[in-house]
Amino acid sequence: MILRTKEEIEIMRQANRIVACILDELAALIEPGITTRELDRFMEERIRALGGQPAFLGYRGYPASSCISINEQVVHGIPGSRRIREGDLVSVDLGVLYKGYYGDAARTYGVGKISQKAQKLIRVTEEALYKGIETARAGNRLFDISRAIQSWVESNGFSVVRDFVGHGIGKNLHEDPQVPNYVPRSPYNPLLEAGMVLALEPMVNAGDHRVKVLPDGWTAVTVDGSLSAHFEHTIAITEDGPEILTVCN
Ligand code: MF3
Ligand code: CO
Repeated sequence: MILRTKEEIEIMRQANRIVACILDELAALIEPGITTRELDRFMEERIRALGGQPAFLGYRGYPASSCISINEQVVHGIPGSRRIREGDLVSVDLGVLYKGYYGDAARTYGVGKISQKAQKLIRVTEEALYKGIETARAGNRLFDISRAIQSWVESNGFSVVRDFVGHGIGKNLHEDPQVPNYVPRSPYNPLLEAGMVLALEPMVNAGDHRVKVLPDGWTAVTVDGSLSAHFEHTIAITEDGPEILTVCN
């Protein structure tokens, strides 16, 4: 597993800061009537203006700079002509490449007045991410993160998506290790060490955990049609504990 130097982590702070600032800015644009393509164009322009490149564009043939997944869409929704509506749950995932290093984060935004259930889903998913982050400490093991996320989600009556996972990140968007949001039956459960940089990203369904990919080859949706939320931070494990790199400060 790759350990990053302090100098590398400083560059990754800058890469991830770009992602976080754009997701902050996006909050003001996510209004009824705007299309997901317009949101994607905004993010791509901002990435380039801040000196980065869109990490997702062209990744395994992916056709846009962001993933925008609405309501029962879990992840990898392709921006297009669909218009945001009042009451929608809009999950936005964004990646940048900056000075040779990647940044990656996601958030779910509620549009206007959303249901109590949707509010709880967003809250529990973000809390699950923070439970995982708190557990990302040198000396713990990888699946301690997974367990912290899974137990928070399930004790709140929701389910964790299994088909997609968090990941190491650095000079590649996806590096070892994979970081599942549930405890898998796998003997490979490495110790966490200072210098590891991970993207933690719980995807949480209001119904059961099953997802399927639509015929477009990308968009993952819940099989039962239930709502889904997604939060992701890129973090560094330091001697002093976890540091969130996807912050706009
Ligand atoms: N953000 C996703 C992740 O965290 C990656 C999106 S893959 C792409 O792993 F193809 F859509 F870019
Ligand atoms: Co990611």
